[in-house]
Amino acid sequence: MPVFPWDTLAEVTAAARAHEGGIVDLSVGTPVDDVAPVIRDALAAASSAPGYPTTHGTPALREAAASALARRYGITGVDPSAVLPAIGTKELIAWLPTLLGLGAGDTVVVPELAYPTYEVGALLADSAVVRADSLTQLGPSVPALVYLNSPSNPTGKVLGVEHLRKVVGWARDRGVLVASDECYLGLGWDATPLSILHPDVCDGDHTGLLALHSLSKTSSLAGYRAGFVAGDPDVVAELLAIRKHAGMMMPTPIQAAMVAALGDDAHEAAQRARYQRRRDLLLPALLAAGFTVDDSEAGLYLWATRGEPCRDTVAWLAQRGILVAPGEFYGPRGASHVRVALTATDEKVTAAVQRLADSAR
Ligand SMILES: Cc1ncc(COP(=O)(O)O)c(C=O)c1O
Repeated sequence: MPVFPWDTLAEVTAAARAHEGGIVDLSVGTPVDDVAPVIRDALAAASSAPGYPTTHGTPALREAAASALARRYGITGVDPSAVLPAIGTKELIAWLPTLLGLGAGDTVVVPELAYPTYEVGALLADSAVVRADSLTQLGPSVPALVYLNSPSNPTGKVLGVEHLRKVVGWARDRGVLVASDECYLGLGWDATPLSILHPDVCDGDHTGLLALHSLSKTSSLAGYRAGFVAGDPDVVAELLAIRKHAGMMMPTPIQAAMVAALGDDAHEAAQRARYQRRRDLLLPALLAAGFTVDDSEAGLYLWATRGEPCRDTVAWLAQRGILVAPGEFYGPRGASHVRVALTATDEKVTAAVQRLADSAR
């Protein structure tokens, strides 16, 4: 396994903490806003749960997920039986190649700049990893699994419908499975992200396609560990069969909380509005402080650079009490960028904006 990247930030974290106004932590991207009462009530009401939960999730959970996908993202045709809960999508991503039976000799394709757990999952299965953003980079090779992530962590880039259609067609011709990590799908700012399962992308045929959805950011449920996968019914059935044997069950009270979260769009819209407000503050502040912000048209992060090695920028911001993630965490192409998360309270974001303004003077 590679070194756990966040462990390398101890020194700059200490520097940011030493700031007289306190640290503004825009590094990990952990949600800070309260869980909505409608979700907490559902959790509490389900707290007497003496029996084992079902690995496939309750019918209510699967129906709530299918209907939220249709309502929120225009994803039609997901049969509730082709939905499977995950104990947070990080868990699913880390084990997906293993659960699919991949091993040595198999290749997993991940974006050039990517959430590190895609690679971790491939390594756990002893499979090879190739970083590629375009199909031509892959040549005649036939990988077992291709990850997409639109909007991207870390860049906020959105893949257009033509690109997505091309990937689906290419994968279908070769029997390659596509796993589309859509945990930021609802956070489109300057572009509207589309699911791999959207009829405009896959013509209503989910064969060979998986969409991974997390409630961590949309409903501020990172602490609950609540996600799910939907898509190709045969692949979902295969994952279910193995997860049953392996005890990968989502706790019953969390399943009930998820039903409430997926059934209520008001709190999701309110959370989106909070992130939009924070983005509207941070983006101009970074630009005014001399940063260039690339991509960042959607999602939870701003992908910023001062045209210098990313660790220098991390240190520069840490002196101002602002902690961000070095772009190199996400791939070699991130060496001169930093990832700035929109996940801090309004008060903390305002403090960061002030500090950036002071440094620009
Ligand atoms: C792209 C991406 N995928 C998946 C995850 C995992 O989210 P969770 O395990 O909370 O569902 C994250 C978390 O930050 C992420 O950025």
